[in-house]
Amino acid sequence: MSRLLVCPPDYFQIDYEINPWMRRDNGVDPSRAVRQWQTLMTVLEQEVGVGVERMQPVQGLPDLVFTANAGVVVGRRALVSRFRYPERQREEVHFARWFRERGYEVLTLEPSLHFEGAGDLLGFPDTWFGGYRQRSNIRAFPKLSEIFQREIIPLELVDSRFYHLDTCFCPLSGGDLLYLPSAFDSYGRAAIAERVSDDRRLAVPEEEALRFACNAVCVGKQVVMPAGCPRTTRLLEDRGYRTHPVHLDEFMKSGGAAKCLTLALD
Ligand code: ARG
Repeated sequence: MSRLLVCPPDYFQIDYEINPWMRRDNGVDPSRAVRQWQTLMTVLEQEVGVGVERMQPVQGLPDLVFTANAGVVVGRRALVSRFRYPERQREEVHFARWFRERGYEVLTLEPSLHFEGAGDLLGFPDTWFGGYRQRSNIRAFPKLSEIFQREIIPLELVDSRFYHLDTCFCPLSGGDLLYLPSAFDSYGRAAIAERVSDDRRLAVPEEEALRFACNAVCVGKQVVMPAGCPRTTRLLEDRGYRTHPVHLDEFMKSGGAAKCLTLALD
């Protein structure tokens, strides 16, 4: 059974602005955020059948809910992120402690090498893709590649609304890829096309990418994704996936949705 790390939204808020989605004057409705998060958990645990590990939320760290950014886990090794913005750097010790207390071997990069975890590193079993420029530093990828013994193709993120790779790129089981082509430059698009054949690349319409269509959690043939993306749903269902839409607009105020709220532990 696959397992995901999550963090309840007890202290989730918009306390600062570090991406174009966040506006302090567009505050979170806390009870609505809790309901949406709980629905996401119910879908993941009961409909998809994954195991969910809840970490303790911390007051003053509103973005700790986005556990995709904790780091990258492979086997018993956890490489903890180095956040770009000081507002989120304070999360690093909490993620590191969570992994250490559960017996993971905790790895880190040098402090100046920003890298925001599974938000910027995604892929298929042997080829990984790394998103850079907005948050992670391209120089992190050769190190990660050495540590995890995987090829990592760097992809520059050229649109600040799609500031983490997981906002515009979602590898699916069976080798399909959901993505927003315009979030990449022509080099990036060519690199993607070289690795993922035409019939396996599912391009999401921009209006749905702006509703976080690519920020989906895929487990086997099941895809948990934000509600309000009918064309993406159709693309997926036509390829034999079963979709589970969840309302996550409170989290979109912070620039995240289903995928950002989870970290794969295996
Ligand atoms: N407010 C958070 C930030 O800007 C959102 C992070 C979303 N996470 C993700 N994996 N895309 O850092």
